[in-house]
Amino acid sequence: MNLSPDRNLAMELVRATEAAAIAAGRWMGRADKEAGDQAAVDAMRSMLTTVDIRGVVVIGEGEKDEAPMLFNGETVGSGYGPPTDIAVDPIDGTTMLAQGRPGALSVLAMAPRGTMFDPGPVMYMMKWVVGPNAVDRVDIDAPIAENLKAIADAEGKNIGDLTIVMLDRPRHDQMAAEVREAGARLSMISDGDIAGALSASLPTGGADALIGIGGTPEGVVTACAMKAIGGHMLARLYPRNDQERKAAIEQGYDLEKVLTTDDLVNSDDTVFVCTSITGGNFLNGVEYTGHGIRTTSLSMRSKSGTIRQITADHSMEKLQQLQTMA
Ligand code: FBP
Repeated sequence: MNLSPDRNLAMELVRATEAAAIAAGRWMGRADKEAGDQAAVDAMRSMLTTVDIRGVVVIGEGEKDEAPMLFNGETVGSGYGPPTDIAVDPIDGTTMLAQGRPGALSVLAMAPRGTMFDPGPVMYMMKWVVGPNAVDRVDIDAPIAENLKAIADAEGKNIGDLTIVMLDRPRHDQMAAEVREAGARLSMISDGDIAGALSASLPTGGADALIGIGGTPEGVVTACAMKAIGGHMLARLYPRNDQERKAAIEQGYDLEKVLTTDDLVNSDDTVFVCTSITGGNFLNGVEYTGHGIRTTSLSMRSKSGTIRQITADHSMEKLQQLQTMA
């Protein structure tokens, strides 16, 4: 029996993020994070039942802010097909959706069973993400200016030509100052560091690196995308407080360890799919055309290195059908 996820699954799984994005799209700018998230979770879960996998959610979403979850340990899929780890983020950027700002994405990643990193009790990690040219050029412990010089050399640019994506958070003030001091451009994002990592690593993404502390679930999902893009990620767990630090140490986590893309997903057979909800730098958001619904998605498979951009026109009945399924 072939236990490797089938290549068609990369196309099947995109239906799940399309469904989540279509359901969540109705909540754009309606100032109700939970309702938008719930709609996305329900639609993604329903659509996953039609996909031939024996999936287990190992990276669920929601614990950080007690959002409605596709919870860790939940089995998803039809129950036939290869055993897989599933990482879901039905909405990365719930606040952006609720506020009606660009950047919210629906995301799902898959890898063979047992290959995704379990971040345990630690909700945040420090991340560096770069594109294919700068693989192995970054040292997470080196001064930012040194890393930016190395990335600039790898990209054949001057430091002043680099664009660095960073979540706009007070915890990043020092890092942002160092980026400015080194002379690179900063692209501050209010949320959504998976989209930020895609911008930093896709050839048409418009940025050269993502730096900063963000969610651990988003980190594992990002690593699955890096495997297909050929980009690279370095990370280190970043406990929010003593309680998290203590719990992590008790559970055997090494908080000093530098986690590479391979540590975050120990397979070269990953699938990453995402559908834009509110639009952004590289994808159009969900559009209601009067005749139907248009979604724009990416589907990536690391085994082949294929990255597909998929624009799909769905009938209006699709939304009704999703509402019935949920
Ligand atoms: P949510 O959609 O769950 O709100 O996550 C958005 C996000 O911006 C992630 O992309 C990022 O990794 C994380 O939150 C950062 O956490 P925080 O908002 O607590 O700084």
